[in-house]
Amino acid sequence: MSTGLSHSNHREYLQAMGIDVWEQRQDRVVPVQIEVSTEPTAIQAEAPLDWASLQQAVTQCTQCELHQSRTQTVFGVGNPNADLLIIGEAPGADEDRQGEPFVGRAGQLLNEMLKAIQLSRNDVYIANILKCRPPDNRDPKPEEAALCSGFLKNQIELIQPKLIMALGRIAAHRLLDTNTSLAKLRGEFHNYTSTNTPLLVTYHPAYLLRSPAEKAKAWQDLLVARKFLSTKS
Ligand code: URA
Repeated sequence: MSTGLSHSNHREYLQAMGIDVWEQRQDRVVPVQIEVSTEPTAIQAEAPLDWASLQQAVTQCTQCELHQSRTQTVFGVGNPNADLLIIGEAPGADEDRQGEPFVGRAGQLLNEMLKAIQLSRNDVYIANILKCRPPDNRDPKPEEAALCSGFLKNQIELIQPKLIMALGRIAAHRLLDTNTSLAKLRGEFHNYTSTNTPLLVTYHPAYLLRSPAEKAKAWQDLLVARKFLSTKS
């Protein structure tokens, strides 16, 4: 029986009703489940995508307005089997240009922070809450973070880190779904509930560049991370 709808209309119609749409993708069939809600929601695949598919999905993403102003998406960098996952806020101008997180001044300080606990960028994985640069370096909007959150969750599912380190207020608030001040969130272990991963919060390196007196506290946080990781390896 013909529905009178084109294939893509038909698909949209089913998705709007929250019905799983099965599509042939190259050599396998995967369910594409669209959540229907008045809140912004990320597209949720039932099983995590593999790295190549996830990278392609990020590159092609047009879920929020940031795709219009980005030079390119900034997926993440480092060891895909890392014990430590570092999560920042969003790409800045340098990252948007180069396609890699934390390559500007804040990135140089992050490299030094990692070196202080005998780690390099290649030992850890580095990603951001947002994969696209917010214009004029404004804060990510909560709805942008919500739309991007499925990508980050998928990355965490693939990496399976032993510890997440959230850099700064925005990353901490989005990952822990809280508005508690960074000062209160520091110094104790939290949990990223989607994957049940331990999470520590520390200052963002860009903040430390502006407030170098706080570097001592960041150093304490790094020592806690190092000690925790040494008990896990
Ligand atoms: N600040 C961030 O939070 N992430 C980057 O990638 C660069 C600067």
